[in-house]
Amino acid sequence: MKNLHIGLLLCALFLSNTLFANEKQLSVQSLSAWTNQDGSTLYIDSVNPTTNQITGHYINRAAGYGCQNIKYPVTGWVYGTAITFQTIWQSTTQSCNSITSWTGFLYQDQIFTLWQLVINGSTNTGQIVQGKDTFSYTGATEHESLLK
Ligand code: BTN
Repeated sequence: MKNLHIGLLLCALFLSNTLFANEKQLSVQSLSAWTNQDGSTLYIDSVNPTTNQITGHYINRAAGYGCQNIKYPVTGWVYGTAITFQTIWQSTTQSCNSITSWTGFLYQDQIFTLWQLVINGSTNTGQIVQGKDTFSYTGATEHESLLK
């Protein structure tokens, strides 16, 4: 009898923890913004629930790199907590002749990634720049109004 009570208590504890954790758990969802340790922000504009494809934009603010403070397009995929996304550093304002690809996962409200930056015209894999970015949730964003 005592064992049954302990079992029930543990079950209740487990269930309440799960529910509580689920309530607080962030997900990679549309209209969310994530800022990394260098101040750059990934904006997720849409997540297609059928294809898992994401679209968004990225604003680079990392010191030592080009193409700063300009909006660049993002495309990628989410699969549960796994995520991969890319941007081409090309726009009418400024182009940096390069592409970056991030791969990572959502864990405890942060997106942990490894990235690779490849420059157009590279001839050696040693020229691919690599690094690590950790993004923290910085809020919900809104759709830009189509009305001027
Ligand atoms: C370039 O300089 O070729 C384009 C800008 C690259 C910025 C890199 S991408 C990986 C790292 N994370 C950032 O937020 N910015 C830098």
